[in-house]
Amino acid sequence: MGQWVRLCSRAQAPQPGTVAEAEAAGKLFCLGNLNGELHALNGICPHRGGPLGQGVIAGESVVCPWHSWSFNLKTGQAEYPVKQQVRVYPLKLEDDEVLVELE
Ligand code: FES
Repeated sequence: MGQWVRLCSRAQAPQPGTVAEAEAAGKLFCLGNLNGELHALNGICPHRGGPLGQGVIAGESVVCPWHSWSFNLKTGQAEYPVKQQVRVYPLKLEDDEVLVELE
């Protein structure tokens, strides 16, 4: 069983169509809101360490602000370039807090 940690309050979570950075347990996360549904990815781009939580959403993906690699917010799978992946973390809302599950 993983450990659930608090990322932010529901009020601090990004609005639909946007992403935000959040830190918990010494890790940086990219928290994205797709049509009202929150998703949490590793916040560090696997290309050169860009801050995915400062990117923008295009379709279902977050686009890295540094060199435009993009990752699906639901699966972590890259749309560009293919075969790249970032980790997706299970997320839940509890008592108006946004929680993610670490390994
Ligand atoms: S660091 Fe993200 S695309 Fe280069």
